[in-house]
Amino acid sequence: MKGIILAGGSGSRLYPITKVYSKQLAVIYDKPLIYYPLSVLMLGGIKEVLIISNEETIPLYRSLFGDGSHLGMAISYKLQDAPRGIAESFILGAEFIGDDNVTLILGDNIFFGEIEFFYKAVAQHKSGAKIFGYRVTDPERYGIVNFDRTGKVLSIEEKPKMPKSNYAVPGLYIYDKDVVEISKNLKPSARGELEITDVNNEYLKREELMVELIGRGVAWLDTGTPQALLQASNFFGVIEERQGLKVACIEEIAFAKGFINEAEFRDVIGTIPQSMYRQYLEKVLQEFEEKR
Ligand code: G1P
Repeated sequence: MKGIILAGGSGSRLYPITKVYSKQLAVIYDKPLIYYPLSVLMLGGIKEVLIISNEETIPLYRSLFGDGSHLGMAISYKLQDAPRGIAESFILGAEFIGDDNVTLILGDNIFFGEIEFFYKAVAQHKSGAKIFGYRVTDPERYGIVNFDRTGKVLSIEEKPKMPKSNYAVPGLYIYDKDVVEISKNLKPSARGELEITDVNNEYLKREELMVELIGRGVAWLDTGTPQALLQASNFFGVIEERQGLKVACIEEIAFAKGFINEAEFRDVIGTIPQSMYRQYLEKVLQEFEEKR
């Protein structure tokens, strides 16, 4: 399974936060937003990741993550020179995907809590598409799943004016390699974009779309407005302070998942400037050593 993070877009709704770089670098409590979706892929065991973004922001991601080798990963970058839609990710990522399955996560989507549903979905994915449904109060803002009385999925509708359910499709999608050919054959929508919802409807037509509803133990947070950014920051600030554990700490996750060994983890810590972040990682290492 490979992973793609789409982390470009104009983010004009968040101006001037997004005047000089894309929104996925905005701060959520104590780290850039993109750490959160990257950590979801890592927790799913995904080591090969392509980050798609615009010309201004790619160098910044590169200075954040490099080639990923210090995390035991292979992180590469691809330019999307204009926001032509989420599904363009698979055209830009065609070579990267090759014959493998691929998970796409939108760089502004945050998941927290009982996310075992995702690990299982990654581990079990053989073919077709798997997307998720999450209950929201504002369905007109998202891709929405329409069900019949028996729970069978009838269609996915992008930002419907009259939503037929409260189940939104979060920006976390798992596909087989056919997604590349499907995306290449899409026509741009009325808003001029290659829509991820059209990809999902094509899989539905082929009877290869699985929709799994995510339970209430998962937080899927919005980051579309300044208020939402503040709420997400407060949310993680409260949790991190209460538990003394960091969320989306990519170095800790790389170690916990066995992407890097103890010596490599120590080396990584050595490259981090003196900070609360470094102190935290030192504590993680120390607790590991004490348990031995
Ligand atoms: C996009 C997708 C939508 C999905 C949402 C999740 O919306 O088009 O189907 O529900 O991401 O974040 P957009 O970011 O274009 O508003």
